[in-house]
Amino acid sequence: YLNYCVPRTRKEIFETLVKGLRRLEYRGYDSAGIAVDSDKKTTTEDNSKIVLIKKKGKVKALDEELYKKDCMDLEVELDTHFGIAHTRWATHGEPSALNSHPQRSDKNNAFVVIHNGIITNYKELKKYLNSKGYEFESETDTEVIPKLIKYVYDNREREDLSFSTLVERVIQQLEGAFALVFKSHYFPGEAVATRRGSPLLIGVRSKYELSAEHIPIQYNSGLFKEGVQDKNSHNRPDKPDNSTAVNSAGDGKAVEYYFASDASAIIEHTNKVIYLEDDDIAAVVGGKLSLHRLNSLAGENPVRAIQTLQMELQEIMKGNFEAFMQKEIFEQPESVFNTMRGRICFHTNKVILGGLKDHLKEIKRCRRLIVIGCGTSFHAAVATRQILEELTELPVMVELASDFLDRNTPVFRDDVCFYISQSGETADTLMALRYCKDRGALTVGVTNTVGSSISRDTDCGVHINAGPEIGVASTKAYTSQFVALIMFGLMMSEDRISLQPRRLEIINGLRILPDMIKKVLTLDNKIKSIADELYQQKSLLVMGRGFNYATCLEGALKIKEITYMHSEGILAGELKHGPLALIDKHMPVIMIIMKDACYTKCQNALQQVTARSGRPIILCCQDDQEMSKNAYKTIELPHTVDCLQGILSVIPLQLLSFHLAVLRGYDVDCPRNLAKSVTVE
Ligand code: F6R
Repeated sequence: YLNYCVPRTRKEIFETLVKGLRRLEYRGYDSAGIAVDSDKKTTTEDNSKIVLIKKKGKVKALDEELYKKDCMDLEVELDTHFGIAHTRWATHGEPSALNSHPQRSDKNNAFVVIHNGIITNYKELKKYLNSKGYEFESETDTEVIPKLIKYVYDNREREDLSFSTLVERVIQQLEGAFALVFKSHYFPGEAVATRRGSPLLIGVRSKYELSAEHIPIQYNSGLFKEGVQDKNSHNRPDKPDNSTAVNSAGDGKAVEYYFASDASAIIEHTNKVIYLEDDDIAAVVGGKLSLHRLNSLAGENPVRAIQTLQMELQEIMKGNFEAFMQKEIFEQPESVFNTMRGRICFHTNKVILGGLKDHLKEIKRCRRLIVIGCGTSFHAAVATRQILEELTELPVMVELASDFLDRNTPVFRDDVCFYISQSGETADTLMALRYCKDRGALTVGVTNTVGSSISRDTDCGVHINAGPEIGVASTKAYTSQFVALIMFGLMMSEDRISLQPRRLEIINGLRILPDMIKKVLTLDNKIKSIADELYQQKSLLVMGRGFNYATCLEGALKIKEITYMHSEGILAGELKHGPLALIDKHMPVIMIIMKDACYTKCQNALQQVTARSGRPIILCCQDDQEMSKNAYKTIELPHTVDCLQGILSVIPLQLLSFHLAVLRGYDVDCPRNLAKSVTVE
């Protein structure tokens, strides 16, 4: 919603929207669409019509389409400067222009809507609307929303309903998860947005040095205050604080508003953002932002902080790298350092995680720790389970969120449940969080996304500070999650005298970890040459055990998701129980054999593989002669503390998957069938 005082051409509005979409593409990219005002001034009705352009494929395809429409004058200055755009990841209905968003109420585009999430009761709503004569054109769940608002509008009788009241009536009927932005030709220039369960924020840009006084606010119930996001702390929503709330009415004409699912879409325009809460309804009318709550009770006075994000645009740009994934792999010395920054004192050996310290006593008294996540985040839990058991002396369960829910796992009030999630929005993990909350457990978030649903809905938590991760395949978030969980173990064991030598060893290992990672990254050329040999293979097995088992799972996941090769992470202890049958001279095998408590057992596994003419590529410690003798090839890694070794051993596999995908000609950052943020079950 651009500053309406300054003339804006359609081209400028397109460019702003398309740029934002490109930054959100990692969330899904099978189709995209846009809606802006028409410029036809012939009749009153035409004057307020909305143009809708939608296209199957990536945002690039939509962008090209916008310039192909020669019937549209790009240089025309539009009366209102509110446009909406969306990049889709199909849940209901195949990827197609018709199924992409904005979805519309009717052929005149009276109401158009963009939606992130799922409407679970859409079938009932559709049936009802069908019975009222509304015809549907797409297979999406979303389409019920514009139809429903049109229905409410058409049946308003003599009531003079504002746009936001219409939206309020609509969301009262919706079940499921949504972040929605509405546009209507009945309300030219007005924007209404709302959310429940899916993230939504408002970027606020002003030519003034922004303070709360410059945010025009209409309703008494919608108050804002200023806050600065603390990079080192887990972000909690600010509690209502009426004393600092400001309610002022500016003229609004110097302010621009950007509604987006996440900050990367808007950061180049502003770093001032307001995170909306579930059932907030935000409206911009006449350039003024207002906020109210669904079914707001008299006297309810919500406060939303205007936060200053510390994220630089360059942080989300690709720089000199071929792909975001590659950039993110090479950022790991820094991202891991940032996870530790200000939290470990290397003189006193103290570890302080600010977001957890008030709950530490309660955590120490718990019955068990349950660590829950999906995909790579789950692997971070697997990777740290053993050291958490050792340092906390508590039973530690690691759980895949979907399976945890399928089993109706018993959870008790004295359990402490951790939710590991880069995005903080993964639907399965969020549902597991709600499940445990309902059972009274203490909930702890470990996320990379300030203001995300998981970081807001948990009782306490740790922000991993890895910086934005754009590549769909998670890399730097994994190593930072790994470090954050180890820091938690160190914090828990601070007063255990018997554990001090072990703590010291780990803290010293963490101190030099960024330098060790830099050394591993120098192996890139060697790994590229191994990829040159392997890229035409169909399968790739990755084996290891103990502290490096998680690396096998994570390495295999990286390989399958971006190279589309079949890959399996195998626990070396299970080799003779089945997987050994796969081994012959043709099957590529990577083995991780580091000098730790499992070294001898891993050597046995190696014997079993070489005895079947297998030709293993071994990830081993520097100067391990024994391994060099038996390997087809070795990748030698610096040796570190056993429980940190997995941080080093995963990097060659991240690099290998990257090179394999490039050699196979695939789009590394946007693997087929996958989205960065899986906000549906
Ligand atoms: C793999 C990958 C996924 C995610 C998983 C959970 O590279 O990125 O497996 O790890 O979808 O996502 P978050 O961590 O955002 O909850």
